Amino acid sequence: MSFDFTTVPARLGTDSQKWQKYPATDILPMWVADMDFRSSPAIIEALHRRVEHGIFGYARPVKSTVDAVVDACASRYGWAIDPAWIIWLPGLVCGLNVTAQAFAAPGEEVLCLTPVYPPFMTAPKNSGRVSVTVPLAFRAGPSGRADGTWEIDWTALEAAVTPRTKLFFLCNPHNPVARVFRRDELARLAEFCARHDLILCSDEIHCDLILDPSLPHLPTALVAPEHASRTVTLMAPSKTYNVPGLGTSFAIIPDSALRARFVRATAGIVAEVTTLGFAACEAAYRDSEDWRQGLLATLRSHRDHLTATLGTGALSGIRLEAPLEATYLAWLNVSALGLADPVAHFEAHGVGLSDGRFFGAKPGDYVRLNFGCPRATLDEALRRFAAAVSAVP
Ligand SMILES: Cc1ncc(COP(=O)(O)O)c(C=O)c1O
Repeated sequence: MSFDFTTVPARLGTDSQKWQKYPATDILPMWVADMDFRSSPAIIEALHRRVEHGIFGYARPVKSTVDAVVDACASRYGWAIDPAWIIWLPGLVCGLNVTAQAFAAPGEEVLCLTPVYPPFMTAPKNSGRVSVTVPLAFRAGPSGRADGTWEIDWTALEAAVTPRTKLFFLCNPHNPVARVFRRDELARLAEFCARHDLILCSDEIHCDLILDPSLPHLPTALVAPEHASRTVTLMAPSKTYNVPGLGTSFAIIPDSALRARFVRATAGIVAEVTTLGFAACEAAYRDSEDWRQGLLATLRSHRDHLTATLGTGALSGIRLEAPLEATYLAWLNVSALGLADPVAHFEAHGVGLSDGRFFGAKPGDYVRLNFGCPRATLDEALRRFAAAVSAVP
């Protein structure tokens, strides 16, 4: 069966947060991480069936929904999870905030590696915890084009730990640098957390979007089973199957005491997952694998196109520094353009990007491009990129 990843959908004027940002202007929104693709036909059919039932009471997942998640963890990553370990959440930003409140007290510290998805830094602060950031170290490759590596700076990480450090937020695969951390790095990170008695929260929301087929997803809790009792894994169908608007995610917490602390922190505040969310989640994990493979093929082709064109010719001022191993998000170094506000400059030339400074980068140095869109949209964005570069004074 073939799927449509080429039709440009009409999203302007809909409830899309991504498209509402530029309502009356000709700016292509390529910022927030949702894709301009329809979800899988299996998900859309499951939602139709659920809507047809016509009753939308308070929801609990049925066994087949839980089985879909458990089976996906087993078949995709070889991770045998107990259904009792799953705690359903309406979103993973919510999961990060709950984790910060559950495992650090006000004034205590939460570590993360930057640049990173902004809620990793804001979640601790939202409740009076302290975010401590440790920059990833960039090692340039021989060609200087898309062959560098973002590595963990172990010395800096050790130096950042204080008696107040309680928690480590990992993003794997990493948004925005698109890196898949390797087994040895994950094992070392788990050992680091154990040695300093930190809870390790591993946000794996992008784990089914690995573009490099030689890199399997390694759940942190599975890589270091001896430390699994201190892990909180966050997952969701939202990024991969383009259903973030349905608010369905989950934490996997093997240790019962940790789970109880996490659940206590949700009490009375965290909303239930909805009936439609459960229906979509089940169809995503159980019935959408062929669609996901089609999506990955499309994203790989976009990635190859970006890798071949950025940093050369008319796009020489926009550099992709490291391989896009996962996600549909490209972290672009635009410092050579010397712009104080690159996002405003690109918007003035019709492309809406995410500003790297919110991810912890120096203002003016980086922007993030979402290439989860039809090729025609990406090509138009690249055309506008070229015009934006040539217009730099
Ligand atoms: C690493 C990471 N975690 C969480 C989220 C957001 O999750 P949710 O929409 O479930 O709150 C994103 C969205 O881009 C993300 O990249």
